[in-house]
Amino acid sequence: MSTLGIAVIGTGKMGADHVRRIGRTVGGARVVAVADPDGDRVKEVAGTLDGATAHTDPAAAIAAPGVQAVLIASPGPAHEEAILHALERELPVLCEKPLTPDPAGALRVMEAEQRLGRRLVQVGFMRRYDTEYARLKELLDAGGIGRPLFLHCRHRNASSPSFFTSDMLISDSVVHEVDAARWLLGQEITAVTVLSPRPTAAAPEGLSDPRLVLLETSGGAVVDVEIFVNCGFGYQVQCEAVGEAGSARIGDGHAMVVQAAGRWGGAIDQDFTVRFADAYDRQLRSWVAAAGRGRVAGPDAWDGYAAAAVSEAGIAAARSGARSVVELTERPALYR
Ligand SMILES: NC(=O)c1ccc[n+]([C@@H]2O[C@H](COP(=O)([O-])OP(=O)(O)OC[C@H]3O[C@@H](n4cnc5c(N)ncnc54)[C@H](O)[C@@H]3O)[C@@H](O)[C@H]2O)c1
Repeated sequence: MSTLGIAVIGTGKMGADHVRRIGRTVGGARVVAVADPDGDRVKEVAGTLDGATAHTDPAAAIAAPGVQAVLIASPGPAHEEAILHALERELPVLCEKPLTPDPAGALRVMEAEQRLGRRLVQVGFMRRYDTEYARLKELLDAGGIGRPLFLHCRHRNASSPSFFTSDMLISDSVVHEVDAARWLLGQEITAVTVLSPRPTAAAPEGLSDPRLVLLETSGGAVVDVEIFVNCGFGYQVQCEAVGEAGSARIGDGHAMVVQAAGRWGGAIDQDFTVRFADAYDRQLRSWVAAAGRGRVAGPDAWDGYAAAAVSEAGIAAARSGARSVVELTERPALYR
């Protein structure tokens, strides 16, 4: 099998992590071009690679010699343009979440794929590749706890980056729970309500953190998500499914419990790159294997679109304080 040449677009925290991952833990691929408008940053990352070209223009990186697939890790608003450049060249894409911040952009991506007549875009909803999530999905699919009634979810970060906005709590953070809930339940989200308590004193001025997001689903389940991006103590993603015949919970992070000096306890991961390291590996291996055959596997542009539509409704709900209905277009045949 030949080695897949990848262009990585955006070399910030996630982009650099993916570059390292492709070099160290994922076989059958190598980074041949990197792009970032921050010229110093892109040169620094290219400097860690053997023979990769550095670009400040994403389109130039995508058009660079040897590029057979594109991994996009720029901020959400920049995703659509890079995806469309990749699709013009019929290159498989792995795009970090969110596919696009708004459903209109995601629809344009789906239109471009439909013109090609095949799916080439995978969205980086990597929780689908996490062992604990996969076990929960297996249990639910096998009817192990009966018909699901609730998902109780917690999503906490130690602190948020300086550019984080109240809308991003929904469109960049809760979007993971939106995809996980759609995937775990096999249902669409139909309505969103957002409750916002008085912000934590740890939140930067103007940031509405934490929030409680309630999602209603097409199968009559209810999903609640506590999103708290300045909790201070670490990174936690937990999910408890409650069904007619039992409940199941993941994300407790009790890999090792230490008992010593009259106390018991364990460590809390501080970062998603640690908590989900295995999931990122599996996601990338699966994408590289499929891209090598000119295909994609995993969450597709429809999943990115549906999540963006829920984000749009969630942002409206947070602003108005009212329940907001999710508007979805009919699912095109390519995504059925
Ligand atoms: N899957 C996950 O768990 C996860 C976790 C964190 C972030 N993300 C996603 O990854 C993406 C990047 O997030 P990050 O945390 O690495 O952000 P970051 O700010 O650390 O890095 C973004 C980089 O993109 C560059 N950039 C800006 N505009 C660009 C453009 N038009 N083209 C190319 N590069 C551009 C910036 O200069 C920066 O270096 C976002 O979509 C984010 O939502 C996913």
